Amino acid sequence: MFSLALLASLLLTCHRADALNNSVQKLPRLGYNTWNAFACNINSSVVLGQAQIMKTSGLLDAGYTAVHLDDCYANLNRTDGKIVANATKFPDGMKNFTNSIKALGFETGIYSDSGWLTCGGYPGSFNNEATDVETFAEWGFEYLKYDNCYIPFDSVTRQNELGRYQRMAEAIAAYAKKTKTLPISLALCEWGWQQVQLWGKTVAQSWRVDDDIEPFWSSIASIINQASFIAPQSDFYGHNDLDMLQVGNTVNGGNLTIEEARSHFTAWALLKSPLLIGTDLKTIGKDYLNILLNKEIIAINQDPVVGASITPFRWGINPDLVSNSSHPAQYWSGQTQTGVVFMLLNTLDTPAPLSFNLTESWAIRAGRQYHVRDLWAHTDNGTAVRNLTVTVPGHGVAALLLTDAGDEPASAGLENECAVWSQCSTHNGTRLDIPA
Ligand SMILES: *[C@@H]1O[C@H](CO)[C@@H](O)[C@H](O)[C@H]1NC(C)=O
Ligand SMILES: *[C@@H]1O[C@H](CO)[C@@H](O)[C@H](O)[C@H]1NC(C)=O
Ligand SMILES: *[C@@H]1O[C@H](CO)[C@@H](O)[C@H](O)[C@H]1NC(C)=O
Ligand SMILES: *[C@@H]1O[C@H](CO)[C@@H](O)[C@H](O)[C@H]1NC(C)=O
Ligand SMILES: *[C@@H]1O[C@H](CO)[C@@H](O)[C@H](O)[C@H]1NC(C)=O
Ligand SMILES: *[C@@H]1O[C@H](CO)[C@@H](O)[C@H](O)[C@H]1NC(C)=O
Ligand SMILES: *[C@@H]1O[C@H](CO)[C@@H](O)[C@H](O)[C@H]1NC(C)=O
Ligand SMILES: *[C@@H]1O[C@H](CO)[C@@H](O)[C@H](O)[C@H]1NC(C)=O
Ligand SMILES: *[C@@H]1O[C@H](CO)[C@@H](O)[C@H](O)[C@H]1NC(C)=O
Ligand SMILES: *[C@@H]1O[C@H](CO)[C@@H](O)[C@H](O)[C@H]1NC(C)=O
Ligand SMILES: *[C@@H]1O[C@H](CO)[C@@H](O)[C@H](O)[C@H]1NC(C)=O
Repeated sequence: MFSLALLASLLLTCHRADALNNSVQKLPRLGYNTWNAFACNINSSVVLGQAQIMKTSGLLDAGYTAVHLDDCYANLNRTDGKIVANATKFPDGMKNFTNSIKALGFETGIYSDSGWLTCGGYPGSFNNEATDVETFAEWGFEYLKYDNCYIPFDSVTRQNELGRYQRMAEAIAAYAKKTKTLPISLALCEWGWQQVQLWGKTVAQSWRVDDDIEPFWSSIASIINQASFIAPQSDFYGHNDLDMLQVGNTVNGGNLTIEEARSHFTAWALLKSPLLIGTDLKTIGKDYLNILLNKEIIAINQDPVVGASITPFRWGINPDLVSNSSHPAQYWSGQTQTGVVFMLLNTLDTPAPLSFNLTESWAIRAGRQYHVRDLWAHTDNGTAVRNLTVTVPGHGVAALLLTDAGDEPASAGLENECAVWSQCSTHNGTRLDIPA
C-alpha cells in the first residue's frame, strides 16, 4: 500500500509540473475561508490571526494547507483598470499579506465574480478577466473562488453561464502559458443551478452543489440530499463543493450538536468536497476542533489512489432515489486505497439501529468477512460476516472502514449459501429461492 501511495503521489507531482492544464489531477482543497465567520469584516490581522490558530491547533499539520480570502478585500472602484486592495484592511499591501500567510506554511486563495460586481458590491471580473488574473497572480494567490452575482445583460455576454466561467478559465490558462507558471485553481461558486455538475469539470476544479450553507441541521441534511444525486461527478478532475464547514456549536449563530457536526464533516469529507473551515477558530470548542482534526477521515478525502466519492446504496427511511431535504439517503459506501468505507446517517431525531447486508454495497465481495474499523471511535471493532447493525445517535453518523479478512468462516454455519438469494443456484440449475 505504501509504495502504491508513494507512486501515486509521484505521478501527481509529475502531472502538476508537466502541464498547463486545468483538468490536471487535483485532490480536494483543504483550508480556511473567511466568508462564513467574518463576511466583510476582514483585514490582514483578522485573517493572519486565524492562520496562526490553524498552525498552533494542529490543523495545518492535519492537512488544512490553504487560507483563502473571500469578498470585500478590494476598493469599491478600480484604479487604472485594476482591482486595488483596500489599504485600511491590508495596510502593508496584498503581496505582504500573502507572503505572511505563506511564511506560516499555507497556500493562498482569493475571490472574484463572473459578473459586473461581486456579491458584496466590489468590482467583478467580467470583461476584465485577463487583467484580474494577472493582479491575483502578482499578489501571490494560487486559487480563485469565482462567484455569480450581477450578471450582465444577454446583449452584452451573448453567452450562458458556462460561457462566463469559460472566459475566466481561458484567462487563467493564457496567463499560465505566458508566464510558464502553474494555472490558478478555479472554484465555481455557482449556486442553485444543478446543471453545473454537467459542465463544471470542463472549466474548473470544483463547483458548488447548492445555496450557501447555514449552521443548522436542516441545511446540512438538505445539502447531503442534493449531493446524493450527483455524487459520482466528483473525481480527481473535479469536485462537488458542498460549501464551507460549519463545525462548531454556537458559531455563526448556529446550533449544530457534536453528532450533527460529525455527520456534516463525515459527509463533506467522504463525498470528496473541498474542506474549507468557515468558523471563527478563536471561539471554536475543543470537541468541535477535534472533529476537524479526524486524520482517518481526512486521509480518505485526500486519498491519492481513489478519487471517487462515496455513493448511496440504499436510501433507508424513504424509497431509493427519493429527494427529501430532511431525510436524505442514509446508507453510503465507496472504495478507498485501504478498504471499503461506509457512512451510515441517522436522519431521525432519536437514536436508531442502522442495519445493512455487506453485499448491498457494490464494493464488497460476497463470501468474504471484513475487519471493521470505527473512524470516529478510532477502534478496531471485530469482524463482520454478512451484515452489520450499528446504533447511531439522532442526526449522528457511523463511519466504518471495512478491510477484507478472508473467506467467511465455515463455522458461521450460514443458512444461505448466497448473500443474495434471487437466482442463487446449484451447478445443475436448482434454484434456492424456488421451493422444491
Ligand atoms: C488535461 O489533463 C487530463 C488529465 O490528465 C487529460 O485527460 C486531458 O487530455 C488534458 N488536456 C489537455 C488539453 O492537455
Ligand atoms: C481588523 O479588524 C478587527 C475586527 O474588526 C479590528 O478589531 C482591528 O482593529 C482591525 N485591524 C486593523 C489593523 O484594521
Ligand atoms: C476600505 O475599508 C474601510 C474599512 O471597512 C472603509 O472604511 C473604506 O471606505 C474602504 N476604502 C475604500 C477605498 O473602499
Ligand atoms: C466609483 O465609481 C462609480 C461609478 O462606477 C462612481 O459613481 C463613484 O463616484 C466612484 N467612487 C469613487 C470613490 O471614485
Ligand atoms: C509585512 O510588512 C510588515 C510591515 O512593513 C513587515 O514588518 C513584515 O516583515 C512584512 N511581512 C512580510 C512577510 O513581508
Ligand atoms: C436550531 O436553530 C434553528 C434555526 O433557528 C431552529 O429551527 C432549530 O429548531 C434549532 N434546533 C435546535 C435543536 O434547537
Ligand atoms: C420527507 O421524508 C419524511 C420521512 O419519510 C416524510 O415524513 C416527509 O413528509 C418527507 N418530506 C417531504 C417534503 O416529502
Ligand atoms: C439482507 O439479507 C437477508 C438474508 O439474505 C435478506 O432476507 C434481506 O432481505 C436482506 N436485506 C436487504 C436490505 O437487502
Ligand atoms: C467500536 O468500539 C468502540 C469501543 O468499544 C465503541 O465506542 C464504538 O461505538 C464501536 N463502534 C461500532 C460501530 O460499533
Ligand atoms: C446477519 O447475518 C447473520 C449471519 O451471519 C444472521 O444470523 C443474522 O440473522 C443476520 N442479521 C440480519 C439483521 O440480517
Ligand atoms: C442437482 O444438484 C443437487 C445438489 O448437488 C442434487 O441434490 C440434485 O439431485 C441434482 N439434481 C439433478 C436433477 O441432477
